[in-house]
Amino acid sequence: MSASNVAGSKWAAGQIPSQAGRTALITGANSGIGYRAALELARHGAHVLLGCRNYEKGQAALDRLLRETPGASAELVELDMASLASIRGFAAAFAARGIALDLLINNAGVMALPKRELTADGFERQFGTNHLGHFALTGLLMPQLLAAPAPRVVTVASLAHRNGKIDFNNLQSERSYKPWDAYGESKLANILFANELNRLAVAAHSKLLSMPVHPGVSVTNIIANGPGSNGPKAMVLKLLAPVIMQPDAAGALPTLYAATSPEARGGEYIGPDGFMEMKGSPVVVKPKPHALDQAVGQRLWTVSEELTGVMYPPLS
Ligand SMILES: NC(=O)c1ccc[n+]([C@@H]2O[C@H](COP(=O)([O-])OP(=O)(O)OC[C@H]3O[C@@H](n4cnc5c(N)ncnc54)[C@H](OP(=O)(O)O)[C@@H]3O)[C@@H](O)[C@H]2O)c1
Repeated sequence: MSASNVAGSKWAAGQIPSQAGRTALITGANSGIGYRAALELARHGAHVLLGCRNYEKGQAALDRLLRETPGASAELVELDMASLASIRGFAAAFAARGIALDLLINNAGVMALPKRELTADGFERQFGTNHLGHFALTGLLMPQLLAAPAPRVVTVASLAHRNGKIDFNNLQSERSYKPWDAYGESKLANILFANELNRLAVAAHSKLLSMPVHPGVSVTNIIANGPGSNGPKAMVLKLLAPVIMQPDAAGALPTLYAATSPEARGGEYIGPDGFMEMKGSPVVVKPKPHALDQAVGQRLWTVSEELTGVMYPPLS
């Protein structure tokens, strides 16, 4: 299946169906792909919750969104994906509102931090933020997701999953830390998680759809916030940027397609259709075979439950 419309043209944000009546939470929504996804969902009528760890940055993003989409229904929620207390606090507050959550976009991420850092809970920061935080958030919000008529969970992975390895003996880089290995592992974990969630949903005859996506190579803050704009990989990326990189709005299209297209199916992996999937329009792409390893996905799920203390309720 390719994500083209009946006329055969490429899928674009203009094809997002009305999102009126839907509530969407996007983690890491104050910049880059998360901001662009929030903006388009709001433009198409969703009530959007911008999940941000930094109040000032989140407020600036909300102000910008409301300027760019007058009349949008959007709010800022404080949510630090590197803190289980913050995640639990948000999930409890959301549950108390008594509303359903139609769409969860697990987007927040950090990349290739030069030195091994820890989250509030003592997890290696990339694995803890990119994977464990989203594992916990999704599980805690499951009752509200299942209260929606057609809930979807979209998890933003990366081409970097290709070099990732789930090493259960060094899961949090306790024995050795390499910035890009830790990032690759966390992004591989994103796909394994999204696929395992979808597999469990199918087995439970659930209405929930779960999809992993990746944005190709997009111009965002992720390099400056991670390896820094002067590291060797960043320099190579800067040189190649005009050829291989796309704007953040284009990078958000796989997320938006998975979140909204009536044609999207649970378990599909969506990415750009261009050269080496670095940029282009969203289509169904294939992850590396190790991202489809069900045994590793199941083991990662169990370990993630143990580490976060979050047990998923039945999915139907
Ligand atoms: N750009 C690319 O080429 C590319 C390629 C593959 C995958 N991705 C993935 O795309 C996703 C979005 O990244 P981006 O490229 O849009 O980069 P970005 O502009 O740096 O956005 C990342 C977002 O995540 C937030 N974040 C980081 N740690 C957080 C935490 N503990 N709690 C809550 N939010 C947190 C950031 O907030 P602050 O502003 O407070 O730091 C920011 O809003 C990531 O998962 C990334 O791995 C990006």
